[in-house]
Amino acid sequence: MQEKINELKKRIAEAIKDVNSSDTLFQIKMKFLGKSGEVSELMKGMRDVPKEKRPEIGMIFNALKLWAEEQFGKLDKAIKEKELKKQYAAEAIDVTLPGNTMRKGAYHPNTLVKRELISIFAGMGFTVFEGPEIENDYYNFTALNTPADHPARDMQDTFYITGDLLLRTQTSAGQIRVMEKQKPPIKILSPGKVYRSDDDATHSPMFSQMEGLVVDKGITLCDLKGMLDEFARKIFGDGVKTRLRPSYFPFTEPSVEVDVSCFECGGKGCRLCKGTGWIEVLGAGMVNRHVLEGCGIDPDEYSGFAFGMGIERIAMLKYGINNMKLLFEGDTRFLRQFKG
Ligand code: PHE
Repeated sequence: MQEKINELKKRIAEAIKDVNSSDTLFQIKMKFLGKSGEVSELMKGMRDVPKEKRPEIGMIFNALKLWAEEQFGKLDKAIKEKELKKQYAAEAIDVTLPGNTMRKGAYHPNTLVKRELISIFAGMGFTVFEGPEIENDYYNFTALNTPADHPARDMQDTFYITGDLLLRTQTSAGQIRVMEKQKPPIKILSPGKVYRSDDDATHSPMFSQMEGLVVDKGITLCDLKGMLDEFARKIFGDGVKTRLRPSYFPFTEPSVEVDVSCFECGGKGCRLCKGTGWIEVLGAGMVNRHVLEGCGIDPDEYSGFAFGMGIERIAMLKYGINNMKLLFEGDTRFLRQFKG
């Protein structure tokens, strides 16, 4: 028996000599020390050992077990340490390598201008109303004093969807939607996309407008002028002035075209203002009494003004962008420059 034990001890020592993975070591351990491993099997032989020899052999067995546990334990610890070191080495990060920087996004100039406009007018008490981009003829034209055979329809080449449905050509449609539901005092701002069958360096089939509408008792053209002066100073800088020129829109009477003094040359005349000292920025006017009436607002009691501007146009002027297409192409090399 003792011989068999010694021989087993040798075999264990031999088996673990070159092991270098903790998995293999565990398998070997099970083979010898597991429930039905070789040590247990050999212990079964105790039955045949004469009674008086059993305590002695028992002690030898225990010593073998203790020894083997210790060997496995030590080796396991050493292997695991090595394995961990290897893993750390594999996962090591070279902090001196140049990194892949994440590019920060930037707001589109249209978004910047839209937000700036909203914040300027919100400061004067305006709230925002957004109407639908697909409108019907009534809101886009008829209710704006532009019936079917009106020549002013020619001012805006329209994309029709059906005979009655169209892509709105102007955010002015929102004026009607507001006045229909809300009674004066009204002070709203209506931003959004509009569509016209137009395409060149300064026109795009889709662009954005910002509409404004004020209706209350005693509103005059002076109120419009005062508000526009404030707007011009805030968006283009102190010292910028406005001037009104007569114009025509079916839904305003009188109608005006609004110019701002050139913020580039201060009015002396330069390339931006084409030598005139003035830059046209928006259309406006006093809300036509027919429009008020059509919305159930008494034009003898109330009056109002409205204005509409192209957001892209303001962005082009403000940031010195010479081609409107740049605002629609989504080229990140262009857009990246507008990081706030
Ligand atoms: N809707 C007009 C346009 O698109 C602009 C405008 C708005 C004019 C409000 C007067 C009043 O040209």
